[in-house]
Parts: sequence; C-alpha cells; structure tokens
Amino acid sequence: MNPPITVSITGAAGQIGYALLFRIASGAMFGPDQPVNLRLIEIEPGMKALQGVIMELDDCAFPLLNDIVATSDLDEGFKGANWALLVGSVPRKAGMERADLLNINGQIFTGQGKAIAANAADDVRVLVVGNPCNTNALIAMNNAEGVPNDRFFAMTRLDENRAKSQLAAKAGVHNRDVSNMCIWGNHSATQYPDFTNAKINGQPVSEVITDSGWLQGEFISTVQQRGAAIIAARGASSAASAANGVVDTVRSLTTPTAAGDWTSVAVCSDGSYGIDAGLIASMPIRVDAEGRWDIVPGVELDEFSRAKVDASVQELRDEREAVVSLLG
Ligand code: NAD
Ligand code: LMR
Repeated sequence: MNPPITVSITGAAGQIGYALLFRIASGAMFGPDQPVNLRLIEIEPGMKALQGVIMELDDCAFPLLNDIVATSDLDEGFKGANWALLVGSVPRKAGMERADLLNINGQIFTGQGKAIAANAADDVRVLVVGNPCNTNALIAMNNAEGVPNDRFFAMTRLDENRAKSQLAAKAGVHNRDVSNMCIWGNHSATQYPDFTNAKINGQPVSEVITDSGWLQGEFISTVQQRGAAIIAARGASSAASAANGVVDTVRSLTTPTAAGDWTSVAVCSDGSYGIDAGLIASMPIRVDAEGRWDIVPGVELDEFSRAKVDASVQELRDEREAVVSLLG
C-alpha cells in the first residue's frame, strides 16, 4: 500500500460533500491501492451534521479510509493537505446567476488561500468548486503566497460531461465515443462548449451531427443553462453530478491523458489563446506520464468560436475587477 494522501474538503457537510466523501473514501478518486486521510472543514453551524456524515463514513468500514479529522479551524483543516477541494460556499437559488454569489462567497477564499499556503503539503493542489468557482480560485491563488499558480484549478468538468452527454444523445452514440470536448472560459452562462474541435468516434462532430443550427444554438444554451435547469427541477443545485465532476477532475489531473485527447479544467492562463495571463480560465488540458499538466497548444478557434471565447473571457475580467480588493 502507498502512504496515505491527505485530502482537505471544505463544505464537507453540504450536498456535494455528502456525495463526494464516500466516493473519495471508496477509492474512486485515487484508485484501489491509495489510502486517504480526510480533513473535513465546516463552519460551526455545519459541525453537527458533519458528525453525522462521519458516523456514516465509519459505518461503511472503507478499507482505504485511514483517518478523519473534522474541524472549523482552517489551519487544522489544511494541515498537510496534498489536495484541497474547496466546495464550501453558498449555492445559487432559482433566478440568480453564479456571479451574484461573488460578494457572498468571495471573502471565504482569502482566508482559505492564506491557510493553504501556511499549512498544506509542499505538493498541494487546489480545486475550487464553490461558485463563482473561476474567480474564487483567482482569489485563493492570489492569497496563497508561495504556492505556485499552476496548483490552482476551478471545475468545468461537470460542463464537459454535460456537453459530451448532449452530443452523444443527439448522435445516438455512447458518451465514451465523444472526445476532445473543451469548455472554454468561465463556469457560467457564457461558457463555450466547443463542438468545433470535439470528435465522435474520431470524426469531427459536425460531420456526424449535420444540424449546425442545433450545434450553434440549442446545444450551447443547454450546456450553459444546465445548472439552472437542475435548480429549477430539483429545487437545489446539482450535487451528485458535481461530486462526480470533482472525482473526474482529480483523476484526470493525476493520470495521463489518452493520446490526442484533452480535458477541461480552469487553470491560471499563461496568455495562451489570447486569454489574459493570470485569469483562471477553462482550456484544453493534457497530463503527461509524470503527472505534469499543460495547456494543449494549436487548437483552432474559428471566427464563431473566437467570439464565444472572447465573451466568456470578458466576463472573467469583469469578475476580477469586482473582487480586486480581495486579491491581496
Ligand atoms: P450546500 O449549501 O449544500 O453546502 C455548502 C456547505 O458549505 C454547507 O454545509 C456550509 O455550511 C459550508 N460552508 C459555507 N461556508 C463555508 C466556509 N467558509 N468554510 C467551510 N464550509 C463552509 O451547497 P452545495 O450544493 O454543496 O454547493 C457548494 C458550492 O458548489 C456552491 O457554491 C455551488 O454553487 C457550487 N457548485 C459548483 C459546481 C461546479 O461545477 N463548479 C457544481 C455544483 C455546485
Ligand atoms: C452547476 O453548474 O450545476 C453549479 O454550478 C450550480 C449552479 O449554480 O448552476
């Protein structure tokens, strides 16, 4: 057995936490030979519910679950963390856009960024899920002095999975037949699910789905609005699919990407694809056999795609402007 990996999770007693912890403890995130320590972080009012979740974790008798710590102290919570999954924050309700959460949630990520820098392991990687996740990751990154920018990620994998599922259903194929699906920009209603570079069984999507009106219209808006559609249907924001997106994101960042394919995750831009350096934007990412990630170069953006990417990047600039006082 490998030595245990330490995973800190904020908002551990929330909806996503409830769907996520059991998957991590079962080995779905790091594989069947990798023990895990869970450091579960909640605010005081969530601590009682968290104790109940821990009772349930105990009752699973997971062979890979090595240790559990529950705390509302950030220093304690991020101690030795190899992965920090920042889920804790208020979800939006019907009628809100994710950016409406900026004032409510942004502040949380200054203290968490500082506590990660002071307490986490040298190899810490940080995945922000709490919305608006790109800009919350920007805040955490800018407050985590000494932690390299390439360790910060925000989740757009749920959007990628949604997009693959929509394309597969339209083409009458399985999800696994869809590859090279990139979400560009912000995890918001401006995100661009790039069908122009996606493939179905190795063929360009537009050769398999010839209804370009659907691709340019309903497909994009369905993916952009999927979070809101789930809130409308469930009365609460996505939780199990979000937790699955977290598992997929971490697995994709810790295992080599299939040759020629890529995955979507928001990373600190280096200026690639005309996206301002320093913004946390979703792009096509690949991971090599040593576990290093880079932005896939040379993905072509036609005029239609370029305009969509630019609109989402402009929204990220506007969000950054709105939180400039939190950037340290
Ligand atoms: P939830 O309200 O069920 O749970 C959030 C939990 O966070 C609560 O238990 C709360 O007590 C805790 N919390 C709040 N502030 C905290 C803090 N400062 N430190 C630690 N814990 C804190 O919400 P949820 O449904 O689990 O969603 C969590 C977040 O994830 C929301 O912001 C939601 O919008 C976002 N989300 C993102 C994606 C994505 O794809 N990026 C998908 C789904 C949901
Ligand atoms: C989602 O995409 O389901 C989440 O970001 C929740 C939301 O507010 O849409």
